Amino acid sequence: MAITDKFRKPGRYFLVTFGCQMNISDSEKIAHLLEERGYQPTLELESADLVIVNMCSVRKSAVDRIYGLAEKIEHLKKSGHKIEAVLTGCYLKSAEQRKLLKIFDLVCARPDFFENPEYLSQPAHYHSFFRAYVPIMTGCNNFCAYCIVPFTRGREYSRPAKEVLDEVKKLAQGGYREIWLLGQNVNSYQGKDGHRTVLFPELLSRANAIDGDFWLYFTTPHPKDLSDQLIQVMAQSSKVAPYLNLPAQSGDDIILKKMNRPYVIKDYKNIVNKLRQAFQENRKNEEKRLALSTDIIVGFPGETEAMFQETVKLMTEVEYDMAYIARYSPRPLTSAWPLGDPIPEAEKIKREKILNEILKKTALKNNRFYLNKTIPVLIDYYDAKKKALFGKSRAYKTVKIDGGQDNLIGQVASVKITEAGSWGLYGKIK
Ligand code: SAH
Ligand code: SF4
Ligand code: F3S
Repeated sequence: MAITDKFRKPGRYFLVTFGCQMNISDSEKIAHLLEERGYQPTLELESADLVIVNMCSVRKSAVDRIYGLAEKIEHLKKSGHKIEAVLTGCYLKSAEQRKLLKIFDLVCARPDFFENPEYLSQPAHYHSFFRAYVPIMTGCNNFCAYCIVPFTRGREYSRPAKEVLDEVKKLAQGGYREIWLLGQNVNSYQGKDGHRTVLFPELLSRANAIDGDFWLYFTTPHPKDLSDQLIQVMAQSSKVAPYLNLPAQSGDDIILKKMNRPYVIKDYKNIVNKLRQAFQENRKNEEKRLALSTDIIVGFPGETEAMFQETVKLMTEVEYDMAYIARYSPRPLTSAWPLGDPIPEAEKIKREKILNEILKKTALKNNRFYLNKTIPVLIDYYDAKKKALFGKSRAYKTVKIDGGQDNLIGQVASVKITEAGSWGLYGKIK
């Protein structure tokens, strides 16, 4: 029996997605499955027959947001709406989420939704006509001490190489301009290709060789698998964009060890230097500069002021373009859970602020690099209120362009950068 047979007759579905790009990609597959079975999408909860919540549990705050939505669903049901609610994605059968599991009519794991343990092979209903996510692997074997993902997504699983490359080819032929290879540990990919095992550098290089006018991105790599070979492939593959998110999590070696991150800061900085040098040597013009972002957690149990200062040092030295700074949130089942949450919220907020101030400065400095240069920008959307187009550069900088027309959406325009801020660039179409 198909999972959709458990739902009421085809009607309107309301799909809400929380969390990372992997969840967005999973939702695209859910949408495809439902539409294939005759369900129509709706953007209003009130008019839905079926609500599907694709959940994220990475921080307590994410779980709380889902409780907020669940309350609304309960309220609708009580006021007589015939609405069926399904919970999927990264949920946990833990005490924290027990109540949540009861509110939903059905709780169903991703692979069960598709009745396919290899659900990454399912077709997707892409959310955009020019930007596409191609999941190449899911799951995680690393068990960082703070992280719930190995418990919500299970062990690593890689999609066969040919399937990934066929999807990229189809997207390129369909005119997609921005293609992301996705995975929790994207560079730990080990996909089958007949009897051979293909590793990530080979996959990336083969994706780069596909005909078409597209920009290639991938996320999220783990520093432990960021090999010299991958660095060379990245720098020498012209479709691979000069942008990388490389999570450091902390700048302190003792904290990294406690987090079960298998590298020290010296290794991390070494990778950064090699990456930057490889782009410098192999690319032309503004592509010589690799834009870097990172993920940082502040207030992990035992993080002293001196240890935090190591993160300050890392961020000051690396001069990131972007950083996703999170306050530590204890998660059930993780190995750090028994350590509790000894660092007060106010202290975490203080540390987060300090790091954001550093980022503001380094990002501004980096963005000034693009001043007076004419660069390609993929136009995302037109904001009628601001009377401006917004897009992304190859280095994944948000670019605001005054005026312009919405018929440029999904196209690459040549833009002269006239102004730089910390969080974006401003320019004119050439
Ligand atoms: N696989 C990716 C990250 C997945 S989770 C990687 O290894 O980099 C995304 C980000 O959420 C992490 O990089 C981390 O910075 C943050 N995060 C995960 N667990 C967290 C927790 N318990 N508290 C605060 N932030 C957390
Ligand atoms: Fe896996 Fe660690 Fe990334 Fe979590 S943060 S998904 S445990 S590598
Ligand atoms: Fe992503 Fe959240 Fe799951 S960050 S992997 S959706 S727990």
